[in-house]
Amino acid sequence: VHFIAEEMAAVACLRAKVNMEAVGEILGRFLVIYSLTQSFFDNFGSLSSHSAIMGNPRIKAHGKKELTSFGSGVKHVDDPKGTFAQLSELHCGKLHVDPENFKLLGNMILIVLAIHFSKEFIPQMQAAWEKLTTGVANALAPRKYH
Ligand code: HEM
Repeated sequence: VHFIAEEMAAVACLRAKVNMEAVGEILGRFLVIYSLTQSFFDNFGSLSSHSAIMGNPRIKAHGKKELTSFGSGVKHVDDPKGTFAQLSELHCGKLHVDPENFKLLGNMILIVLAIHFSKEFIPQMQAAWEKLTTGVANALAPRKYH
């Protein structure tokens, strides 16, 4: 991924404002909408309804963990493959998550940002974030898929 300074600044600026409410909503919405992915979290307590998922503290905490890790993609844009090598092995090699889901989760990030920061989410902002979500999704996918 090649980021120019303006894109880095735009991403960092919005990222600094993202609160826990928005973070929780990303994984929560993802699990509600792509409900088959709930099976990966079947030891996480109740996922029985939309509100159960959205209110599940373990889902919230996990969403925070994943998004914090996603954020490290911002700091290491020059070497996403190296940064996410171990997580790629965990998700694809061990957990067998279909790499398509990394793109879908990336899109969920864009949607939740657009909802929470509608004024700031101008096309240039979206483009910068889209570069990041695509870069992280590609970095998490195993090399053999390319
Ligand atoms: C665990 C990051 C997408 C399912 C994790 C962990 C991190 C992480 C940092 C914790 C690893 C550890 O404890 O050592 C990410 C990032 C993603 C992503 C950056 C994409 C932006 C996904 C998707 C799924 C998923 C799409 C499922 C559809 C899981 C599961 C675990 C996990 C099941 C283990 C949970 C547990 O039992 O503690 N992920 N993840 N992740 N992730 Fe992801």
